[in-house]
Amino acid sequence: MQIRAAVLEEFGEPLVVQEVELADPEPGEALVRLVACGVCHTDLYTASGADPSGYAPTVLGHEGAGVVEAVGEGVTSVAPGDHVVTLFSPQCRECEHCRSPRTNLCLAIREQQNQGYLPDGTARLSRDGEPIRHFMGASTFAEYTVAPEIALANVSRDAPLEHACLFACGLSTGLGAAMFTAKVEPGSTCVVFGAGMVGLGAVAGCRLQGAERIVCVDLSEDRLELARGQGATDTWTADADTVQRVLDETRGFGADYTFEATGLVSVMRQAVESARMGWGLCTVAGVAGKGETLDVVPRYLITGRRVCGSSFGGVKGRDQVPQLVQRYLDGDIDVEPFVSHRLTLDDVNRGFELMEAKDGIRSVIDF
Ligand SMILES: NC(=O)c1ccc[n+]([C@@H]2O[C@H](COP(=O)([O-])OP(=O)(O)OC[C@H]3O[C@@H](n4cnc5c(N)ncnc54)[C@H](O)[C@@H]3O)[C@@H](O)[C@H]2O)c1
Ligand SMILES: [Zn+2]
Ligand SMILES: [Zn+2]
Repeated sequence: MQIRAAVLEEFGEPLVVQEVELADPEPGEALVRLVACGVCHTDLYTASGADPSGYAPTVLGHEGAGVVEAVGEGVTSVAPGDHVVTLFSPQCRECEHCRSPRTNLCLAIREQQNQGYLPDGTARLSRDGEPIRHFMGASTFAEYTVAPEIALANVSRDAPLEHACLFACGLSTGLGAAMFTAKVEPGSTCVVFGAGMVGLGAVAGCRLQGAERIVCVDLSEDRLELARGQGATDTWTADADTVQRVLDETRGFGADYTFEATGLVSVMRQAVESARMGWGLCTVAGVAGKGETLDVVPRYLITGRRVCGSSFGGVKGRDQVPQLVQRYLDGDIDVEPFVSHRLTLDDVNRGFELMEAKDGIRSVIDF
């Protein structure tokens, strides 16, 4: 079928919205009609050419939500009419990692996905007979996409898709960092560095886990205001003295849990140093620049602080994204404040401009 999609033709150039060809789903795949899609930093990172593993041409977008229109042979977990959220982090439920409760990093299709292909090593997207690669197994800046069944979370039909799409990446990453990676305990003191989509999600996750004190640190007063709305009990303007301030307010010990959601290695270091001696856990969610390293004085670790990373918040997508969406429907998570701008597919480059200007948390494309 012919579909309209935003194609990255050349790194550093605006995306070009155009007609491309989308083939039928093969076994294990589903055709999804996109209804909404968030614009995320990772799309911009690839479009800019900064990502060394990026490729072009490709249809970008990975924060999609839509309706299943058709399924290939053998597909059992989604059917036409189902509402789905795309998963750049799939869950096959069979590989060594999927069978372990300790990680969400599914091994099933990593190689093909990283190269821009569906699991059988080919693309469904093309133009004049030439394949166009898929992006993060999703390619959701498009009217339709074909995705592997294992990369689709089947969510409640009651959830508005313009909100559900945020669970495809940033929001679940933040919520999950607190709920599934750190497993914040009730009564804890938490410090979240960064109040973008990921940090705000982490604030909400800490609240859902019953944290007593949730400090959010950012440079932007507007974003700190949003953090208060998500449950932050304290909001601080970021500066070089943040670590000292955390120590001063915790009898010199540090916070039970710290979260880094900025992508800055200097802030990651602050997050490590703000974690409590004895048992403080620092969860790193930000993606640092290529070649950057995190400086940690080993004494911090010997005295009981721990550091861990979190990809997609440790969320096992097919099992847990529907649960997170249900908590939203139950009124536990307030998603509306994150949707700052509503755009059409033709305005996709405007979404990147707004992001670069730090205007709002998320732009959502409506199809
Ligand atoms: N681990 C994952 O699976 C995953 C998924 C999505 C995004 N990410 C990464 O998470 C990070 C955050 O993503 P986002 O969408 O929330 O980004 P964002 O740019 O919207 O938010 C980052 C926030 O950090 C704040 N900040 C900047 N300097 C600071 C400082 N010194 N101290 C405190 N705050 C500071 C900014 O003001 C901004 O509000 C990025 O690095 C992104 O690539 C990771
Ligand atoms: Zn993303
Ligand atoms: Zn797996």
